Amino acid sequence: MSPSMIALVVEEENKKYQRGVKHLCDNGLTEVPTKYIWPEPDRPIFTKPDKLIEPKQNLKLPIIDVAELLGPNRSHVLRTIAEACENYGFFQVVNHGMEGDVSRYMIEVCKRFFELPYEERSKYMTSDMSAPVRYGTSFNQSKDNIFCWRDFLKLSAHPLPDYFPYWPSSPSDFRSLAAIYAKETKEMFDLMVKAILESLEIDGEGDKAAEELKEGSQLVVVNCYPPCPQPELTLGMPPHSDYGFVTLLLQDDVEGLQIMYRDEWVTVDPIPGSFVVNVGDHLEIFSNGRYKSVLHRVLVNSTKPRISVASLHSFPLTSVVKPSPKLTDEHNPPQYMDTDFATFLQYISSREPKWKNFLESRKIHHIR
Ligand code: OGA
Ligand code: NI
Repeated sequence: MSPSMIALVVEEENKKYQRGVKHLCDNGLTEVPTKYIWPEPDRPIFTKPDKLIEPKQNLKLPIIDVAELLGPNRSHVLRTIAEACENYGFFQVVNHGMEGDVSRYMIEVCKRFFELPYEERSKYMTSDMSAPVRYGTSFNQSKDNIFCWRDFLKLSAHPLPDYFPYWPSSPSDFRSLAAIYAKETKEMFDLMVKAILESLEIDGEGDKAAEELKEGSQLVVVNCYPPCPQPELTLGMPPHSDYGFVTLLLQDDVEGLQIMYRDEWVTVDPIPGSFVVNVGDHLEIFSNGRYKSVLHRVLVNSTKPRISVASLHSFPLTSVVKPSPKLTDEHNPPQYMDTDFATFLQYISSREPKWKNFLESRKIHHIR
């Protein structure tokens, strides 16, 4: 084949991958195409030559019981939240008040969305980062060299009336179920954020931030990970940290989420009906590095499709994100530069937001 022919074939292949993993799988697949094969050190099980292979136990994240949080034991629960945000950057929330039906119906209607014909789903495909609805694949499909085994649907969700009319109208019950879900997740966020800020013990500063965050943005990201013929070669999502203040993650009963804990990847044990809450970059900055926005990634498997719904909550676009003045003084100087959200978004749309690049770029390196 001539070089120009090869270029043409590659371009055709790439077009196929742009349609997503679900589309690829629906057309029959027995092995993972090269486009999705990660270099060995990035694969799910990478053992350094001098290390014995030992299967890791799943990680049980600290559990926060919201009923307890709202009762007489609040101060104790707040300490558990502080420790979880410092040591794991993650915790799980139970007794959160969302009816089981709301989360189950959400997962179920999302499953049905991804089962729609490709032509229906692809109506929402766009490279416009500010579009109220975005359907797509991989992590950043216009930039990624290696693709991830994941399709997604992203819905802007706050304020709801501004965005609701743009959400998918098929399946016919999608909008109404997703709206209930988004509204209730936002309420859960408002409650969790109050507790998280209270746990930082910064008094009025916390209340001010909570008020600001109440009017902030909410992005509901539905992730679809189809079964993969060779899950050991690829990733559902590459290592990343979440850019917002806090993410609330709902998973179905299939495991896949891994977090970086003590320099190793560990799988989070999903608790049915619970939410995983994790510290985002904005909170790491706001807490001046006390709470950690921890790297996490997603593995896929060969038998079970997996759906997760991540709700990303951030300061309003007009806010400047910076370390809380209550957490800085001459002995504890600010560790991060002031950052406005627009700069943040610009950065993530222009670069592969892999690893913690952005947060690293905001760090102030003090010379002692
Ligand atoms: C995310 C994310 C984890 C998962 O959407 O940012 O990390 O389990 N999702 O799907
Ligand atoms: Ni994430």
